Amino acid sequence: MGHVIYTGKAKQMWSTDDPEVLRVVYLDQATALNGKKKDQIQGKGQLNNEISTLIFTYLNAKGVKTHFIKKISATEELVKKVEIIPLEAVTRNIATGHFVTRFGVEDGLVFPTPVEETYYKSDALDDPFINRSQILALGLATEDELAEIWQLSRQVNELLKALFAKAGLILVDFKLEFGRLGDGTLVLADEFSPDNCRLWDQQTRSHLDKDVYRKDLGDLTPVYAEVLHRLKKVLEG
Ligand code: C5P
Repeated sequence: MGHVIYTGKAKQMWSTDDPEVLRVVYLDQATALNGKKKDQIQGKGQLNNEISTLIFTYLNAKGVKTHFIKKISATEELVKKVEIIPLEAVTRNIATGHFVTRFGVEDGLVFPTPVEETYYKSDALDDPFINRSQILALGLATEDELAEIWQLSRQVNELLKALFAKAGLILVDFKLEFGRLGDGTLVLADEFSPDNCRLWDQQTRSHLDKDVYRKDLGDLTPVYAEVLHRLKKVLEG
């Protein structure tokens, strides 16, 4: 069974018999406002595990290096153990969320080229914005790693914009995390689910992501189930 290595807001990481492999357990928990809003949502863990499994399998097949190995149960998957780089790489195709509150632009403004922002992963500091020279000064990542993080983020954006478009969804923005394998290879880590991206319906522009929870727009599980259903239709026919 192993032991708990880390408990996050929506996932728990467990050790396994293999020192290079961890077991991820997706929890039925939703948080917003950096943990200040928190609820149990039955079925959410299973939905995120299924959605993230589809996305990571797709990215692996397209040659993107990730930590993902396989899904092992409704709420669990196996991943390669990585040293997490404490950065959040946010890519925005359309202005919404904090970009709108920070810069006062119109919600829904389409960027001619994607906006790229980096945040320092720290609950205690509320995930502050961090720039390149600050990252280098703090030794959080090397110049080469930063270049690779943004090259991979751009590749993921292109692949997933096209994938979600086939599912009738607009990929508005998303957050990625990266880690280093034992040999230093940089890989995509964490998860890709409606918890860490924004998806709008192409026709109605309704939100099919965690904004439903953040803004109290209704029940989360039917919305995540809709995303899963549409993705399955595209990927599995
Ligand atoms: O809140 P903000 O507009 O900066 O979010 C941009 C994108 O990054 C959204 O898709 C959001 O879900 C994601 N994000 C995240 N974790 C954070 C901050 C943002 O997944 N701590």
